[in-house]
Amino acid sequence: VDGPHETMRTAHELAAKLYYHVLTLTEQGADGREYVKERGFTREQIEQFQIGFAPDRWDSLTTILDKREYSLDLMVEAGLLGERESKDGYFDRFRNRLMFPIWDGQGKVIAFGGRTVSDEKPKYLNSADTPIFHKGQTLYGIHLARPSIRKEGSVILFEGYVDVIAAWGAGLTNTVATLGTALTEEQGRIIRRNAETVTICYDSDNAGINAAFKSASILKQAGCIIKIADMPEGMDPDDYIRTYGAERFKSDVIGASMTFMSFKMRYLRRGKNLANEAERMRYIEEVLSEISTLTRAVERDHYLRQIAEEFSLSLEALKQELQQNIRSNK
Ligand code: CTP
Ligand code: MN
Ligand code: MN
Ligand code: MN
Ligand code: MN
Repeated sequence: VDGPHETMRTAHELAAKLYYHVLTLTEQGADGREYVKERGFTREQIEQFQIGFAPDRWDSLTTILDKREYSLDLMVEAGLLGERESKDGYFDRFRNRLMFPIWDGQGKVIAFGGRTVSDEKPKYLNSADTPIFHKGQTLYGIHLARPSIRKEGSVILFEGYVDVIAAWGAGLTNTVATLGTALTEEQGRIIRRNAETVTICYDSDNAGINAAFKSASILKQAGCIIKIADMPEGMDPDDYIRTYGAERFKSDVIGASMTFMSFKMRYLRRGKNLANEAERMRYIEEVLSEISTLTRAVERDHYLRQIAEEFSLSLEALKQELQQNIRSNK
């Protein structure tokens, strides 16, 4: 006899089949298909990622689970159903959303993410943590990506599943995503077990930039070599691929990824007018302070030379300044 966790898993498999069936074959999936078409997901992407559609009804999944004699209270605990406030029945938690199954490391469906196809809030609704789903321990797409992560020795980290799916369409398969939140230490360890080099490719908006800083320091702690992709301001990977295509994404975004230090330098430049002496000095001080935290002498030397060259400063003066910085760090 299956325990409750196993029952929750089989219910998720069943739900994923239902949503996929609705999207691909039924009248109720029309709005989903319309959205998929607009968004440019291909048949291959839909099949590979088992994308589906939860119809705009309160009882589609509820009815099926009930017929198959699942305990509906357990299904509430599994995050698939809600219980009516009056306590006299249950309803589907996901309605009128494009559905993305979320898998564990072995490829078992353990949760869902749903994007509204109208403009309901929230735009993305993910399963809350349940006995079988721990968001902070889950990396979207890891079971599909593992072979190519191992082969490449590197992984590309995105913010969300839509970006992973877009990247597959562009032929990049060594990709995973957190679920719209900053990386946890646990996820950092999973990444490190699979690859040493990580390219962080988050949205280039304030939220994405701040999250990139946080994720980079977690990955550094985990022992990874970090690169940060060069996303143009205001875009996300999915936007970029749809606008400029796969080849440019590979060469100009992933191919042009930079070190964490270069990313910090670029960040420190934002909003400063370096032609202005005072702002330039402040920038140089801030960069020196970052350089002083680098542990390897060759790395410090590399960036010092870069600054010396860019601002026509003597390397000697910069070195002295850096030594003072390092002493005050201690
Ligand atoms: N995401 C998530 N849960 C959230 C918010 C976001 O899982 N509560 C994920 C989604 O997978 C999404 C990614 O994080 O792909 C980025 O989120 P966001 O930038 O807010 O999405 P948009 O790019 O604005 O969404 P869209 O392109 O669909 O309009
Ligand atoms: Mn957004
Ligand atoms: Mn964003
Ligand atoms: Mn987007
Ligand atoms: Mn985005």
